[in-house]
Amino acid sequence: MATLLEFTKLDSTNSYLKTNFAALADKTVVVADEQTAGRGRFDRAWVSQKGGLYFSVLVKPVQTKFVANFTQLMALSVCQAAEELGLTPNIKWPNDVQIDGKKLCGILSEAVAQNGRISCVVVGCGVNIAQENLSVGQPAVSLADLGIKVDKKTFLKSVLKHFWQGYPAVVEGGFLPLRVRYLQRFPFIGKTVTVKNAQTAKTGVVAGLSERGTLLLDTGNGPEEILIGDVTV
Ligand code: BTN
Repeated sequence: MATLLEFTKLDSTNSYLKTNFAALADKTVVVADEQTAGRGRFDRAWVSQKGGLYFSVLVKPVQTKFVANFTQLMALSVCQAAEELGLTPNIKWPNDVQIDGKKLCGILSEAVAQNGRISCVVVGCGVNIAQENLSVGQPAVSLADLGIKVDKKTFLKSVLKHFWQGYPAVVEGGFLPLRVRYLQRFPFIGKTVTVKNAQTAKTGVVAGLSERGTLLLDTGNGPEEILIGDVTV
């Protein structure tokens, strides 16, 4: 059984694990009711008032070849937990979970490297559970908005059940063991999207996902592999 550390308030569950990873066991999970400095991808803030679920998982995999796919495993695990509540979520590559185009969950993975070696990976996840009238700068939805009342801890347990079930296969095989289930929840193939990262913005048609989970985007010259980015439709 993985260790679960529970806090009423933290700056960020990701930051907590990145600071304390050396003293903590593999598979430690930290959860906070509130975050005062929740962080999102591309240095964005993650609004973290009470009512949401904010947690991070610490993993110290022996094999680190496929750590980039841990976020996709987490996205799939959140989908599976939401499906058990009767919802039909989808995944906006690489790891946003949406319901009807509105964001239910965001995931931020961070690796800590020492002497050029990955010592651990922190997979942080924020799920909108009981907040109402979310105002977070993009279309968002909570389970409460969808008429679903669920205890945060019950939802967390369900997500973690799916995550730990899938984890050994992803450590060994990366995206491939996830691919079929991920694609079933990925409705973007054939759609025109813009993918932005810190350097570029590219618009094209989504041609698919590669065997390693990267996005294949056709901007007119055939599919191009995109490793990182934020997709807008
Ligand atoms: C994103 O969509 O930009 C990713 C958001 C990730 C938010 C979670 S909440 C728990 C963990 N702690 C953080 O500071 N961030 C992640």
